[in-house]
Amino acid sequence: MSKTLINPHGGSLVNRVLTGSERKAAQDKAKSLERIQLSERNASDIECIATGVYSPLTGFVSEEDYYSIVNDIRLSNGLAWSIPITLQVSTEQAAKLQVGQDITLVHPNGSQIAIMTIGDKYSPDQEQEAQKVYKTTDPAHPGVAAMKEAGSVYLGGTISVIDDLPAGDFPAHSFTPHQTRAEFAKRGWNTVVAFQTRNPIHRAHEYLTKVSLEIVDGLFINPLVGATKSDDIPADVRMNCYDVLMKDYYPNNRVALGTYPAAMRYAGPREAILHAISRQNYGCTHFIVGRDHAGVGDYYGTYEAQEIFEGFSPDELAITPLKFEHSFYCNKCGSMGSPKTCPHGKENHVFLSGTKVRQMLSEGTRPPAEFSRPEVADILVEFYSGKEKVSA
Ligand code: ADX
Repeated sequence: MSKTLINPHGGSLVNRVLTGSERKAAQDKAKSLERIQLSERNASDIECIATGVYSPLTGFVSEEDYYSIVNDIRLSNGLAWSIPITLQVSTEQAAKLQVGQDITLVHPNGSQIAIMTIGDKYSPDQEQEAQKVYKTTDPAHPGVAAMKEAGSVYLGGTISVIDDLPAGDFPAHSFTPHQTRAEFAKRGWNTVVAFQTRNPIHRAHEYLTKVSLEIVDGLFINPLVGATKSDDIPADVRMNCYDVLMKDYYPNNRVALGTYPAAMRYAGPREAILHAISRQNYGCTHFIVGRDHAGVGDYYGTYEAQEIFEGFSPDELAITPLKFEHSFYCNKCGSMGSPKTCPHGKENHVFLSGTKVRQMLSEGTRPPAEFSRPEVADILVEFYSGKEKVSA
């Protein structure tokens, strides 16, 4: 018998997409309002807020929630929330805007996508935000750089989407939390593990997902397809990799593939919490957190993104993290494993750094089958053949 799925974060799924006569009236009103041009990152956030991926957020965060998130990793009502979702403008733009004013938010594709009543206008200390959220003020950190580039004045307020959200590049794999929840229920899955990724699935990823699948009903592969840094592999290439893997290496009735429209912030531990909350909203009960989750460079400790979960009670954060140590193929075991399961020395383990893999691919060399399934390697070799050579 089917049980109820896990509750959304905060109790109910947010839906900020207007329909029918309400939409029509808002569209008419939007024509005469001050316009704010959104970035791709803002557009990702709008989609996540409006469809409930970021429940319980109903808009860009207020000043009170901003400080509560930055300082306490919680919303002002006590629920876990780790990264302020902000709408930022320049001081010149801000000079024309007042609290209480309605504004039109313009999607990068030109459509008037949403309206918002400005509830708060504030200029926080961005160095402090960088230090607390990203654990660094280094302007070379891609998340810090994007935050600073976005503008120094923050606008808070509830949004209403007044046009169809663009279908995106992967309409066949794009689902709202309402849709994923309906699909999981249809498949009879009560427990579902989510896998966040911004990379092609390599053998280590495959191992984590399959070990997880041994203890739950279903696996939701949920690759992030919003903005990433320029040397990450583009989402369309990755989607081809996921498709071939799903076809040949996963049982179809136990696995679903759906895109996660958010942009990557590379905020390590803080982003792991945001990733987990989003997946709870999709209806997942478990969330995979491996080594250096959502990390970049050397900013975070290998397991910091796992440790942060210890600071939250189930009342504050209901989804269960499944924590994995660094996984690898061991030549002596003849199988995948981790320091938890493999007794052999590092010399037996197949480990390739990201740089090494990029270098091999750009020379047309397939990484070994112990590292990457050949079907995935083929897609990556083809992609890199069109790019400039990567030097050692
Ligand atoms: S991430 O930015 O989305 O975290 P990536 O796609 O590489 O990057 O990782 C997806 C998930 O797999 C993350 O939870 C990450 O910690 C985990 N992971 C990646 N490689 C390994 C590995 N070799 N061993 C254990 N966990 C890993």
